[in-house]
Amino acid sequence: MGKVYVFDHPLIQHKLAYIRDINTGTKEFRELVDEVASLMAFEITRDMPLEEVEIQTPVSTAKVKMLSGKKVGIVPILRAGIGMVDGIIKLIPAAKVGHVGLYRDPETLQPVEYYAKMPSDLAERECIVVDPMLATGGSAIEAIRSIKKRGAVNIKFMCLIAAPEGVDALKEAHPDVDIYIAGLDEKLNEHGYIVPGLGDAGDRLFGTK
Ligand code: PRP
Ligand code: URA
Repeated sequence: MGKVYVFDHPLIQHKLAYIRDINTGTKEFRELVDEVASLMAFEITRDMPLEEVEIQTPVSTAKVKMLSGKKVGIVPILRAGIGMVDGIIKLIPAAKVGHVGLYRDPETLQPVEYYAKMPSDLAERECIVVDPMLATGGSAIEAIRSIKKRGAVNIKFMCLIAAPEGVDALKEAHPDVDIYIAGLDEKLNEHGYIVPGLGDAGDRLFGTK
């Protein structure tokens, strides 16, 4: 069964508080999402394998540790997942980015896929699927189904805010996927919004309504 990690780092919690705040405008919201994505990426890459390499410092040779060439794929769920990509790429500049476009049908809350474009070597990459919100879990479940169909085998899911209902649904649908969450909230409301949440992540990131 995949593990669920809820980050308790003070910087992440502090920035998440501003992200939730209704008085935080689009520019600041975008910057904060970017920063929290970087901080989460720092934690999520903790288990990356290292190898010993010999280098020359100005003083002597040294045996040092470097990443052993593990390939990473970042897969944002459009639209709102895009807001988390740059923050991760700052730390993992060699990562490739695949996109999966999904929207929630407002009536049924079911995800509908409208776009998918992935790196060709998805099977060799550690894939990090990103979306600020894990609400019913439908979008994450469908996005992960979509990348598995295209060859992905090593997958993590990273979000800012999750509802318990979404976490349970995602664990059940994809028990092989570890889930990384900045804030685990109370519940979903009758419209499928996370309570207390942050509202509509896509609208807040891109200034739409
Ligand atoms: C939001 C959010 C997730 C999804 C979560 O996207 O960014 O993708 O809802 O809800 P779920 O867990 O119930 O599927 P939305 O469908 O509003 O599309 P958008 O990113 O284009 O705004
Ligand atoms: N999508 C959002 O953007 N916000 C929610 O609270 C739930 C789904």
